[in-house]
Amino acid sequence: AREASYGQGAPTTSEEVEAGVQVCRRCDLWRDATQGVPGEGPRPAPLMFVGEQPGDQEDLAGRPFVGPAGQVFDKALAEAGVSRDQAFVTNAVKHFKHEVRGKRRIHQTPDRGEVTACRWWLDAERRIVRPRVIVMLGATAALGVVGKPTPIGANRGKALQLPDQAQGVVTYHPSFLLRVPDADTKAKAYAEFVEDLRMAGKLAG
Ligand code: URA
Repeated sequence: AREASYGQGAPTTSEEVEAGVQVCRRCDLWRDATQGVPGEGPRPAPLMFVGEQPGDQEDLAGRPFVGPAGQVFDKALAEAGVSRDQAFVTNAVKHFKHEVRGKRRIHQTPDRGEVTACRWWLDAERRIVRPRVIVMLGATAALGVVGKPTPIGANRGKALQLPDQAQGVVTYHPSFLLRVPDADTKAKAYAEFVEDLRMAGKLAG
């Protein structure tokens, strides 16, 4: 059934996505990853969050946003008054792209070809989840959802109309917030992130 759900028509159920991601050969990232990490959450859901790709811990756990970025995400969601339980959480790319340095696996940003290849799964999740609002966490997520580069700075803080009836909100990636060197800049960006999540929660009703 796993093979049968891959390579034929576009998936129409979460089970097909979950099985299909594990045998996906649409790009080469499966080779070095532990497993594919599909999205999780209710279907349908009013709100969908899209990250970049699984990180080291997500690759091992098979679940999105469970590592350090997930902790920032959970904290900001709580401050914004948005419940993660009522949202579908996924990534633009379903396998962990990294390079090995000694004992560490260092994150690498997926390229445009990889993001485009993985839209097969993201688009299927969008059809299955039918969210009212899609929040794009960072530039890779925005590329996956919108299909073309969408700068965060110029587009955050407002609702964008997406073709599939959903409204889009672009905001920072939680890992970016962890890396901002200057403390004041970091605090400001984090506050804007919480604002964006709160707006998305309101838009989703
Ligand atoms: N960063 C992401 O973009 N997604 C995850 O699932 C974890 C870290």
